[in-house]
Amino acid sequence: MSRFALLVLFLIPASPATASTSTYTILSASPSNAARLDPAPVGISYEFFTFPSYRTNVSATAQCELHLRDAYGAPMPIRIGGTTQDRADYDSTFSGYVTYSVSSDKDAPKTLKFGPKFFEAAGQYEGSVVLGLNRGHANLANTVEAARKARSVMKNLVGVEMGNEPEYFKSDGQPIAKGTWNSATDAASQANWQIEVGGAVGNIIQASNSLQSPPAWGAEQLLSVQNSTALGYVKTFSHHNYPGGSIQSLMDHRNVVKNVAGFKTDVEKARKAGKEYVFGETNSATGGGAASVSPSFGAALWVASVSLRATSSSISRLYFHHGTIGACQYCWFGRYSMGAPYYGAIFAASAFGGGSSIIALDKGTDAFAAYVVFGSEGNPVRVALVNTEYFTGGPRGSHTFVLEGLKSVGSVEVKRLTAPSATSRVDQGGSPTWGGQKFEDGTCKIAGTEVKESVKIGAGAASVSVGASEAALVYL
Ligand SMILES: *[C@@H]1O[C@H](CO)[C@@H](O)[C@H](O)[C@H]1NC(C)=O
Ligand SMILES: *[C@@H]1O[C@H](CO)[C@@H](O)[C@H](O)[C@H]1NC(C)=O
Repeated sequence: MSRFALLVLFLIPASPATASTSTYTILSASPSNAARLDPAPVGISYEFFTFPSYRTNVSATAQCELHLRDAYGAPMPIRIGGTTQDRADYDSTFSGYVTYSVSSDKDAPKTLKFGPKFFEAAGQYEGSVVLGLNRGHANLANTVEAARKARSVMKNLVGVEMGNEPEYFKSDGQPIAKGTWNSATDAASQANWQIEVGGAVGNIIQASNSLQSPPAWGAEQLLSVQNSTALGYVKTFSHHNYPGGSIQSLMDHRNVVKNVAGFKTDVEKARKAGKEYVFGETNSATGGGAASVSPSFGAALWVASVSLRATSSSISRLYFHHGTIGACQYCWFGRYSMGAPYYGAIFAASAFGGGSSIIALDKGTDAFAAYVVFGSEGNPVRVALVNTEYFTGGPRGSHTFVLEGLKSVGSVEVKRLTAPSATSRVDQGGSPTWGGQKFEDGTCKIAGTEVKESVKIGAGAASVSVGASEAALVYL
């Protein structure tokens, strides 16, 4: 569609739409500096108090998770946690999943209680689970008891966090932050809890879990002050990331690159210490998302872009946060409507699926992003292309990515992620399409027939045109 529109454009001299080209050589083998890919790098973070409702009372949840599993060939990872993990106390005698009271169903509870059934629900998930437990209440015995129960019930438990965004414990009035509370006192507290909780569950602690940028808070800070006993229990360092901004600034490739580059040293320090680094909680904007930004197709392109950029920068996994059901601007799905950002996740998962390593091809200095995913034999299998130029209407510009050095013969297949504009929302009738297909509101079932375009290879090169605010996946 967009390419036909473009031909017409050239006949209209006043057109503001642009067409530009960049050329990349596709290496025939994964280079030594490529980042190793996790089998399923993009997953979901479910806010602690509402996790049972997502599992038992939102029809789209299981189906949306399944599409990602199909794209990966492996189950999608989840993390359960968030602000309410530090408001939750474990009660081994409580027979429900979780109990709390709120004055409006758009509110998150101030206190809550959960029982062993919560872990049974989490244990039934087919993929890996990172579980966020309470540190804010300073009740170590309760958290150790909960962790021990979780370990015995959940075969899929791969990580335990103690405390969510501890830099806010003081302003949240959390008991543990009584007296002096800063990154140094937090690091000492984390070390103590790592040893105690780690003693109960093993070396699967997901540490840090801060939102404030490193190095003030993060892996580097903890690594510099904790001793080897405490660090021995740490498997993963997690940082939270919510870039915010307008749709245009959020999706712009240069900003995505700058944002991820801010974690470079923290990631290097963690990996040098033999630990994985993840975005344990991320999304477009804090507080459930921004109504004018988070449900848009531009935010979907951001999900795709940040996932590709982070993984090619050795960040192993990203868990996109899902909060209060019915009050969640950035959510991928809800009871009644799909969210455009889900399409970005599907695009990224399709790019990663079965891949072993990834590299960024572009320098991050313009709006055009290009990544190569290499398979288990080290051969290039897919190229992900994102044109992050902000398109809201009128003639649609495009960018031509020329891919050279291709070993494939004849042609390559291309699957396109598009929408009417960067501001399109599913709930306003502007659903994106992924290879011509949509995901149905309420069920997350696939609708429509898959469309793959064929692009001819000439002299080992293929030219793939990607419209402004569009992405394309090239299957080599
Ligand atoms: C399920 O969702 C309905 C509709 O929003 C709500 O009234 C009900 O309380 C929910 N049940 C549970 C167990 O969350
Ligand atoms: C680390 O510190 C803890 C106390 O916080 C102590 O029990 C442990 O022995 C220390 N480990 C090392 C290797 O010094």
